[in-house]
Amino acid sequence: MPKRGNNSKIRRFAAHRGPALTFDDVLLVPKYSDVRTRRDVDTHARLTTKIELGIPIVSANMDVVTEASMAIAMARCGGIGIIHRFITAEEEAREIEKVKRSESLMIENPLTLGPDSKISDAKKVLDEYGIGGIVIIGEGRKLLGMLTTRDIMLQDNPATKVREVMTPRKRLVTAPPNVSLNDAYKLLKDNKVEKLPLVDKSDRLTGLITSSDLLKRIQFPNASKDKKGRLLVGAAIGVKGDYMDRAKKLVDAGADVLVVDIAHGHSSNAIDALKAVKKAWDVQVIVGNVATPEGTRDLMKAGADAVKIGVGSGSICVTRIVTGFGVPQLTAIMESAIVAEDYGVPIIADGGIRTPGDIVKALAAGASTVMIGGLLAGTDESPGPVVLKNGRKYKLTRGMASLTATLDRRRSEGAADAIREKEVVEGVLEGRTPEGVEGLADYKGKTEEVVRDLIGGVRSGMSYCGVRSLKDLQKNAEFIRITSAGFKESMPHDIHQM
Ligand code: IMP
Repeated sequence: MPKRGNNSKIRRFAAHRGPALTFDDVLLVPKYSDVRTRRDVDTHARLTTKIELGIPIVSANMDVVTEASMAIAMARCGGIGIIHRFITAEEEAREIEKVKRSESLMIENPLTLGPDSKISDAKKVLDEYGIGGIVIIGEGRKLLGMLTTRDIMLQDNPATKVREVMTPRKRLVTAPPNVSLNDAYKLLKDNKVEKLPLVDKSDRLTGLITSSDLLKRIQFPNASKDKKGRLLVGAAIGVKGDYMDRAKKLVDAGADVLVVDIAHGHSSNAIDALKAVKKAWDVQVIVGNVATPEGTRDLMKAGADAVKIGVGSGSICVTRIVTGFGVPQLTAIMESAIVAEDYGVPIIADGGIRTPGDIVKALAAGASTVMIGGLLAGTDESPGPVVLKNGRKYKLTRGMASLTATLDRRRSEGAADAIREKEVVEGVLEGRTPEGVEGLADYKGKTEEVVRDLIGGVRSGMSYCGVRSLKDLQKNAEFIRITSAGFKESMPHDIHQM
């Protein structure tokens, strides 16, 4: 059992430390800087002991924030998204597959269909994975043709066989399995085609290279990628029930990192789950959330590859109100960072980020990356529709421990048992007081643009600190506490803001 250390009595009445602080309680003191342009700074950050990102931003594992489309957008920007766990394990694994199939140097297992499939089946696959074409193969994976969205766009009989509309083998441009990327680029360009199936000497399909993948390499040069050139993605699991089955499905689907997700991470449940996952697979594991150095230490001791810090700081969180527990986020980060440094394991500041300046403060206080929920909840890539209210656009957002999120979860779990609505509601209400709320997030457009603004602030912050790396930001940063008058002065004042 983890020990609290011999200062526990003093810590119980922690007033001796002075008040715990959060982002608005402090500012960073400007330092001499020879950084001439913001482009000169390097935003690379450690997500876990083995994974590095181009930018220090992670999208939260919430059902109003991260599914495949958010994870794709985040990885293209150089960050990463963590798929939430409030769907079935199969659905979560499919979200991982969508990210992994969204781009790669070479697709090893392209989606295929037989020539006698109906075009309605093909349409389903194309829509589901958001791709532009399917390779058509026969017995022994022999290449027979290619079917693209253009081939079926104007076909109005869904029962039409694929073989009737596909581009047949003899008209396809192909390449051998070991073709270089430069040669593949030339073949695609010279023949003005979008897809290059790779075939062995017996004309069996071994892979696929697409022009859109090659273009994305140019368009998103800082994307976070695995060894096969596929986008990085993480996925959350719980600590109870079938979490090991879920973890297996996610690892098999190609998740680069798992997040053991529990509201109170400084617990035997979290430590047991972490150890079980680390024992079963060679996969990077993030665990959280905790808000103390003791919690951070115990999870790092148990083998965490990164620890998430934040209890009660989230935009949709009422844990502190409902339970009385929590630690203001800046203090939680600063104290955990001291332990993290000893272990050489990164920490992720999760919750409460409202501005680019908050990110700079979190990183300067010792976090390696930040996890963001609310700020990304109203983007095009967050799940859910845009809603209109009084002429303004919003998206729904909610805490994962809110009443509606818990109800939705129980309903989907209970669906198999034909559980009745009344029983679901009563079960939830009796079970637990919600620790999250629901609300409307401003519609914010593209994730890419939101992230660009956030990173612009981080780069600027680094130049105010006179540093070129996030590591040096932590070394050189000096915090100063401010009063409410100082905070007021920090905001725009004495004008009618437009
Ligand atoms: P935000 O960036 O301030 O919106 O915080 C996002 C974080 O809030 C998530 O990554 C979670 O750690 C946390 N969170 C999500 N749902 C809940 C909830 O219902 N109650 C408490 N915390 C939550």
